[in-house]
Amino acid sequence: VTAEPAVVVHLEGDDPAPWCRAIEGRCPGWRAFASDAVPPGAEPAVRAAVVWLPPPGLLGRFPNLADVVSTAAGLDHLARDPSRPPAARVHRRQDPGSTRIMAEFVLAQVLIHHRELPRHWAGRATRIWDQRAVGPLADRRVGILGFGPMGRAVAGVLAGHGMAVTAWARTPRHDPAATVLTGEDGLDRLLAGAEFLVVLLPSVPGTRGFLSAARIARLPPGAVVVNCGRGDTVDVDALLAALDAGHLAGASLDVLPVEPPPADHPVWDHPRVLLTPHVASLPRPAEMAAWLAAILAQGTNPTTGC
Ligand SMILES: NC(=O)c1ccc[n+]([C@@H]2O[C@H](COP(=O)([O-])OP(=O)(O)OC[C@H]3O[C@@H](n4cnc5c(N)ncnc54)[C@H](OP(=O)(O)O)[C@@H]3O)[C@@H](O)[C@H]2O)c1
Repeated sequence: VTAEPAVVVHLEGDDPAPWCRAIEGRCPGWRAFASDAVPPGAEPAVRAAVVWLPPPGLLGRFPNLADVVSTAAGLDHLARDPSRPPAARVHRRQDPGSTRIMAEFVLAQVLIHHRELPRHWAGRATRIWDQRAVGPLADRRVGILGFGPMGRAVAGVLAGHGMAVTAWARTPRHDPAATVLTGEDGLDRLLAGAEFLVVLLPSVPGTRGFLSAARIARLPPGAVVVNCGRGDTVDVDALLAALDAGHLAGASLDVLPVEPPPADHPVWDHPRVLLTPHVASLPRPAEMAAWLAAILAQGTNPTTGC
């Protein structure tokens, strides 16, 4: 049994040890336990949880849980564990740097497609030496669906490279990097002009299947879709059909409705899909621990200041 306040860590598929070390290093006076290594009787000492995809029943084991810290910006993964004590505060990932890392990843995807690198890489197998001139990125137009912290950071970086950026949001607003459109008319205008479409929507009831076959059809011929938000916001079958039909030139998919996709899913081998395993902006232990320390400092432990 521990007398010190404790943090429980559960990051599905990830080794909790570096996270626990980072938390104990950053938060003197606090213990950090992996979810399967909480000492018997220590449950009441657990005041905070750092989680990705908590299993059903985990959070309900800790009666004094005050703070649930999501290592993801989206909170859809918390639905897996309905046992969370209702009084616990939920914090979605907001460590500084997370949006910058996302923006750099999207910039890389846009540049890879813009410079036609997949075509050049594929040409190696058949010894094709195909030179074609490409203009600057500043000649290209990008549309962004989902204009939260991630979408705004992406807009800033792409606009900084000279791209004409249009974003779509539910509520009107001014943004220095993007023309922000609203409503169905605004969505139609954005889709019609988007040579690149970056999807950064959260997975919520109104966004599932948002980029449907009908909306993909409104993109200009040769458009490229980049999805780094949540997999279920894009109709992947419709996207692959549009690639096969030649309507879309390419796609970058960092997220999918099922991760990882089944081994026989066509997305693994599709020649025009750049597939990455949900790595656009992964959290890192040191930054998360610093952010957790700030959360705990506002809360429950005046003695340690942590
Ligand atoms: N691939 C990765 O490694 C990675 C890393 C971090 C995050 N992500 C994903 O990126 C997503 C975006 O991150 P964020 O922090 O920017 O998220 P966010 O703040 O939750 O995004 C909100 C944006 O989505 C729009 N939106 C919300 N509900 C909507 C609805 N029902 N219909 C249409 N639009 C709706 C909002 O519109 P309004 O502005 O009009 O409210 C806003 O523009 C996250 O949810 C997460 O899923 C992925």
